[in-house]
Amino acid sequence: MKQLRVGTSTHDYTITIDENIRYDLQKFFTKSYSKILIITDDQVAPLYLDDILAGLQTENVIHTTIPSGEATKSIEYYYQLQTVALENRLDRNSLIIALGGGVIGDLAGFVAATFMRGIDYMQVPTTILAHDSSVGGKVAINHELGKNLIGSFYPPVAVVYDVNMMQTLPENEIRSGYAELVKEAFISDKAFLQEILNKPLSKLTNEELKEHLYKGVKVKAKIVEQDEKEANIRMFLNFGHTLAHAMETSLGYGRITHGESVAVGMLFALHISEQTYNKPLYYDELFDWLQNNGYPLSLFDIPLDNVIQLMKLDKKSLNQHIQMVLLSEIGEPTVEKMEDEQLKKMLQSFKKELTAK
Ligand SMILES: NC(=O)c1ccc[n+]([C@@H]2O[C@H](COP(=O)([O-])OP(=O)(O)OC[C@H]3O[C@@H](n4cnc5c(N)ncnc54)[C@H](O)[C@@H]3O)[C@@H](O)[C@H]2O)c1
Ligand SMILES: [Zn+2]
Repeated sequence: MKQLRVGTSTHDYTITIDENIRYDLQKFFTKSYSKILIITDDQVAPLYLDDILAGLQTENVIHTTIPSGEATKSIEYYYQLQTVALENRLDRNSLIIALGGGVIGDLAGFVAATFMRGIDYMQVPTTILAHDSSVGGKVAINHELGKNLIGSFYPPVAVVYDVNMMQTLPENEIRSGYAELVKEAFISDKAFLQEILNKPLSKLTNEELKEHLYKGVKVKAKIVEQDEKEANIRMFLNFGHTLAHAMETSLGYGRITHGESVAVGMLFALHISEQTYNKPLYYDELFDWLQNNGYPLSLFDIPLDNVIQLMKLDKKSLNQHIQMVLLSEIGEPTVEKMEDEQLKKMLQSFKKELTAK
């Protein structure tokens, strides 16, 4: 069992990573609750809901299942879940359990953050990517005009990560989650990075997955503890994300997973970093690993001017200038302001390199 304690401005919470702990969630409660509402999606429910229910020794458990996918991070589903909570008489001493990937975590977390001005919630992540979303307390829903625009900082009371649930993930979701782990390795520690890049994803054991999740979560937890509200170093977690967000918006959500676009974004950030700092920074190593693991590696013919405009919508942009997270060394992230012309040149040479390989 691997455990990590995270401090926040309101309370501390424990992240536990282990096998088969989904059968015994009650062990991780920090107090007793009047009522428990499990929120999950229709792909996760048939696989794991019964396991969770079997371990909760109380009659006051209800559950609700919504369709899987990003579209439920909406005001409509948010309202529907508030209605479920009210109709089932949850009160301020109730608990919400978010059983699912990042979508369920963000949505159920935001419901918990605002139901009767905030009740406890527990994250039970079922995707690898959700190691990222379940830690750090960012909860949100989407607005028609953009992703995650309505939300809050609201940490869970516990995160319970059962790695056995990852066995049913489709390959593209494994790739998606691993890209974020690679990101955490790049911004923190060369040994961790090599450990991941050394082995194909299909050959990973549960022990290795636990170890990687633990290390990834530790990187994230350390950063958010120092910068809970994203005033400075939390930006480093956006390594690879400036281009990724632009790609996701341009392609439309659903054509590529979040992490797969982060993978291309990291390659681009390394392309610029290697030229800026004039040294090799694992561009080739990352490229080979991504290719061997079946990541889609192209910009999908998005017009470059369009990419630049979309990159400016990034939350890190300052006065219309794109700011990018680069690396001066593995484990040494920096934030650099980019001029449009320079960025265009970099995008052109990057595109050439991607197609030449
Ligand atoms: N709050 C944060 O800090 C933060 C950080 C990163 C991402 N996010 C958010 O996370 C979301 C993406 O999360 P995600 O990638 O986990 O997506 P997701 O929740 O949509 O899950 C991906 C797909 O896998 C299915 N699934 C989940 N667990 C499964 C399992 N064990 N076996 C089989 N199928 C399973 C889901 O039903 C879904 O179809 C985005 O909305 C993003 O904005 C938030
Ligand atoms: Zn991300």
